[in-house]
Amino acid sequence: MSHVVSSEKKIGIDAIRFYTPSFAIDLHTIASQRGIDPNKFHVGLGQHCMSVMPPDEDIVTMAAHAALPLIDEQNKRDIHLVLFATESGVDQSKAAGLWVHHLLGLSSSCRVVELKQACYSATCALQLAISYLHMHPTEKVLLLASDNARYGLNTPGEPTQGCGAVAIILSVSPRLVAIEPHQGVVADHVMDFWRPNYLNEAVVDGKYSTKVYLNTLLKCWEEYSRQSGHGFSEHARFCYHIPFTRMAEKAHERLSRSASSQTCATALHSQIEPGLLYSKQLGNAYTASLYIGCASLLENELEDLSEKRIGFFSYGSGCVGEFFSGVVQRGYQKALFREEHQSLLTSRAKLSYEQYKDFFTYQLPEDGGDHTTPVHSAVRFRLLGCRNHERLYQ
Ligand code: COA
Repeated sequence: MSHVVSSEKKIGIDAIRFYTPSFAIDLHTIASQRGIDPNKFHVGLGQHCMSVMPPDEDIVTMAAHAALPLIDEQNKRDIHLVLFATESGVDQSKAAGLWVHHLLGLSSSCRVVELKQACYSATCALQLAISYLHMHPTEKVLLLASDNARYGLNTPGEPTQGCGAVAIILSVSPRLVAIEPHQGVVADHVMDFWRPNYLNEAVVDGKYSTKVYLNTLLKCWEEYSRQSGHGFSEHARFCYHIPFTRMAEKAHERLSRSASSQTCATALHSQIEPGLLYSKQLGNAYTASLYIGCASLLENELEDLSEKRIGFFSYGSGCVGEFFSGVVQRGYQKALFREEHQSLLTSRAKLSYEQYKDFFTYQLPEDGGDHTTPVHSAVRFRLLGCRNHERLYQ
């Protein structure tokens, strides 16, 4: 996919807003329950806390909450394409984006679809949106990425769970990041992580998945740098897919070595650290995590990033990887939601181990009866329950 088609129009990310539920568990609590040294999670994985999905929320309500602050009357008129990326789908047929489209009152003149390829599909959605905007430059695209990362209680993946959604408005003349035209893309048939339809938790070969992630990064980088002519030093900052923040640090160290960069360890650290702050507290949000990382970078970096290039690496097990880049736009600071995002993370209620276990093991009944979910969340959109196999939202 090359975006050099019709003009020199800048197209890219006009706004990013994320949402995570108002419940979290401190990884200290999990460590003491499992009899594990908490430093394994804090230092070894780079994680401190993870958001937990209550029974009355799901990928639909999270995405609706993420998008709501971005949807004014103008955007309702301009959005005619909604792309919903997820690997926690709630229906085999209906796109989750249609519930969000309804909850937000978007225009009926709208294409709405769901995309799946593990944690990668939001990046495919972003590139499709850019191609679409070349054809429809007066419109905007709403990209939603929403996931509940579940590995299971007392598994190696447990401390890398989390949940959250991101809503991105893509447009011509974006206020935040103009996406550049070159990408390095790699697809390969690999069984490192998957989830059959009948399982609620992923099947994962965790160690193998980290190796495939790193190998795919190097292949994607090689193709991206060949096409674009951009070297490592021409990127001011880097954002990686963040299954856990230590993974992104390892990826950055490995890329720097492979690109024979002379950047010292401290400078390497500062190229990615502001982008990891939100994920350390929220955990993995699969499709959303790269873009929560992008918001974290733009909102927490002290230096002015205007006109600086960011390198992005997206990875979805199975696997597809993509390296691409974007240039931060002048005045981007005015279009951020720093206070809102930080207060979302700091105001979450901390769960005890038993409360976390109850939330984790709750399942919406599957018998077709009339069921009401227990009320936990004091939020605008809730999963009320189900009736006759239909999910009901407030
Ligand atoms: N203090 C500090 N660090 C410690 C420690 C302690 N007390 N105990 C262990 N560690 C370190 C280990 O040395 C290791 O670091 P390293 O990877 O740099 O060698 C790290 O903590 C993790 O320990 P490890 O024993 O390898 O963890 P694990 O086997 O329990 O699980 C994953 C790690 C990533 C495999 C597991 O969390 C997982 O399956 N996650 C889901 C899959 C995933 O996220 N894949 C990523 C690609 S998409």
